[in-house]
This record gives sequence, structure tokens and C-alpha cells, in this order.
Amino acid sequence: MTAEELWSDVDDYITGSVVRPQQALDEARRASDDGGLPPIAVSAPQGKFLRLLARLIGARNILEIGTLGGYSTIWLAGALPDGGKLVTLELDPRHAAVALSNLTNAGLDKVTEVLVGPALETLEKLEGPFDLTFIDADKVNTSAYFDKAVRLSRPGAVIVVDNVVRKGGLAEASSSDPNVSAMRRFHDELSTRTDIDATTIQTVGAKGYDGFTLAVVKN
Ligand code: SAH
Ligand code: DHB
Ligand code: MG
Repeated sequence: MTAEELWSDVDDYITGSVVRPQQALDEARRASDDGGLPPIAVSAPQGKFLRLLARLIGARNILEIGTLGGYSTIWLAGALPDGGKLVTLELDPRHAAVALSNLTNAGLDKVTEVLVGPALETLEKLEGPFDLTFIDADKVNTSAYFDKAVRLSRPGAVIVVDNVVRKGGLAEASSSDPNVSAMRRFHDELSTRTDIDATTIQTVGAKGYDGFTLAVVKN
């Protein structure tokens, strides 16, 4: 058994024991696969983590950048209190259509809005403030998304950035992978910001070796 297989088996175990995704989440994953979307949604344990985080901070207004089939969207929106809202941004209209169908199936279409277009443009038209932002779109624009997310955040808001460790590429100064360079630049910028407190956590699981950044916008 490879390390990757073991990580995946453990994720399956965790998913079956404490995570217990609702039926609509399994259906969303299946519909996304059937629709030919790439299999890059967060894992179930990661999705549950996002939902718990949203609940921990009592998030009423959530922003997501990178919808795909709405799998992480359903996890996040499941944490919304009455009157809460989630806005999610997606470039590809085919992904957005699958997401909308999955959100409807999950009974979340009234509390979520899928905005189609390049996120950098959509972000210019958005009004905050948001309590929680999940950044998970094209990786090269991560720094720009983060900057815009901070501007749309309330003081004390939380921002989570997915896929920042990139199989350890984050530590390779000489990497020629543009996604790695983008995440190194993102960390460089974070390290000089005085308005943000942040850490990055490495993860292994069904999605291999990667990690996420957790940032808090200071009061
Ligand atoms: N958050 C999802 C996965 C997102 S995958 C989940 O975990 O379930 C990344 C998504 O970002 C893809 O659907 C891709 O089409 C979208 N994307 C890529 N470039 C984008 C851009 N410039 N603006 C908005 N979305 C973009
Ligand atoms: C990719 C994107 C993601 O958001 C992710 O979690 C994993 C992989 C990708 O573009 O390959
Ligand atoms: Mg991701």
C-alpha cells in the first residue's frame, strides 16, 4: 500500500465515523463526476472542517471563490443561520449549472448565489462585509483574491485558502511550477501584512499531500 492509499483509506474511515456527510453531499459529488467536472472538490473531512469553522465564528455572510460543482459550497452553506447568505464565484458556466442543480437538490438554492464570470471582475461588484471567505479557484490569482477578500471582510473575519502546500512545493524556492510560485508569493505577502494573523497547516488525505492557510483579519 502506498502512503497515498493509506491517507485515502483513513479519510474514508474518518468520513464514515465522525464526518457523516448528508445524502445531498454524496449526490453532489456523484453529479459532479457524472457531469465530467474535475475531481478536485474538497474531501468530506475538509468540507466538514469548513462547516465547523463557519459555525464556530457564527458566520452569517460567506464568500467562496471557486465553486466547481458546489460540494464545498454545500458544506459551508449548511452552517448558515436563519437569514444567512453565501455567495460563490465561478468562471465556468457549466460548473455553475451543475452547482446550482446540486444546491437546489440540497435545499440551499435560496440561501446561496452562484455568480458566473472571472472572479477578479465579480469581486469588484460585490458588497461585503463577509465573515468567512474560502478561496479555492485558479491558484495563480490567489494573492489578488486574498487582497480583495480582506477588503470585503469585517474585522475579525476568517479567510481560508486551499491548496497552498502543493505536495511540498511551497518549500522549493527554485520551483518552475507557476502554482507553487503563486503560493510562495502569497506567503511572502502575508508575512509582511500587519493587518492579518495567519498560519498554514499541511494536510494529507484523499487529495494527497497539500495544505491550507487560515487567516484572521485583525480588529
Ligand atoms: N471549491 C470547490 C472546488 C473548486 S475547483 C470544492 O471544493 O468543491 C476550482 C474552480 O475554480 C473551478 O470550478 C474553476 O472553473 C474555477 N475557476 C478557475 N478560474 C476562475 C476564475 N478566474 N474565476 C472564477 N472561478 C474560477
Ligand atoms: C486543483 C484545484 C483544487 O482546488 C484542488 O483542491 C486540487 C487540485 C487543481 O486545479 O488541480
Ligand atoms: Mg481546492
